Amino acid sequence: MALSSSSSSSLKGIVVTVPVLLLSATAAAIFFLFLFSSISSPPPCSCPTNGESTVESTVSAVRSGGGRISATREDVEWVKSQIHENGLHMQDNVLRKGINPRTRAQQLQDLIEFKGISHYEGEEANNHTALPCPGELLVEQHHSNYGEPWAGGRDVFEFLAESTQLSPNSRVLEIGCGTLRVGLHFIRYLDPQHFHCLERDELSLMAAFRYELPSQGLLHKRPLIVRGEDMDFSRFGSGFMYDLIYASAVFLHMPDKLVWFGLERLVGRLKPLEGRIFVSHNMKFCSRLGGDECTKRLKSIGLEYVEKSTHDSLLFNHYDIWFEFRQTKA
Ligand SMILES: *[C@@H]1O[C@H](CO)[C@@H](O)[C@H](O)[C@H]1NC(C)=O
Repeated sequence: MALSSSSSSSLKGIVVTVPVLLLSATAAAIFFLFLFSSISSPPPCSCPTNGESTVESTVSAVRSGGGRISATREDVEWVKSQIHENGLHMQDNVLRKGINPRTRAQQLQDLIEFKGISHYEGEEANNHTALPCPGELLVEQHHSNYGEPWAGGRDVFEFLAESTQLSPNSRVLEIGCGTLRVGLHFIRYLDPQHFHCLERDELSLMAAFRYELPSQGLLHKRPLIVRGEDMDFSRFGSGFMYDLIYASAVFLHMPDKLVWFGLERLVGRLKPLEGRIFVSHNMKFCSRLGGDECTKRLKSIGLEYVEKSTHDSLLFNHYDIWFEFRQTKA
């Protein structure tokens, strides 16, 4: 009994502080690691099955590893045909009538008031929910923490996974995985414990552990997500090499000195030859040194620049810019 009353008061504490944390974290994100992480596109829909053979071939390519991960032209045609065959007209449905449309704020209020929700009363309210999650996370406020559509996480995953010919037994380290907008896709794809991440923002980690991993059914993947900063990778263990290390919209928010310090520590953890480091947006931490100095400095820590790539989003008018690095050949 003592246990249940103490857990109930600590839960109340969380409920009160999370909104404040959410607001302050949004502001803090401007200064700190900002990570776009992501997740989860909806699972393949269980709608009509005319295109099943295409879906199956895509699924098997994904499962075999090293194959195509992004949507094929046939996939795109298939989904368009489903929309057409079902007579769906997106433009005409902008004002959704009849499905009880609510904003996140309204949804949160309804949740707090248990409006329309079957719920437990009294003592039972505290012993039926295994992982009580703050309402702000349940209404997915964190999906708009960083501005970019949540769906952008899938784009990043597809680009990086295909660029590095990832397979489920590959090992991946993300620097700054935030709320797992990107990370969820890696976690789902990779073998258990093969996704690692260093992240400094507590609120983002809260969203990752308390909402994203459980709601996506990914707890069994046991990702190694470590709260920390200053590019300290000492808690990730040793005896393995990463196939892919990436930082999505993170280095541009860090002092150049810290970026170099981190890269120096990571070179030895990168798989020789195939291992890649990908950095998004720009490589000003290097180019600011001046063309030649940048190359020299990279070489001095055992890295070389490979190339710049862009990757188009599947769902919105946007492209990501990626800079690729590998170990210099011995
Ligand atoms: C929850 O607590 C109530 C009241 O103490 C008790 O009657 C009930 O059996 C408990 N239910 C579960 C699922 O533990």
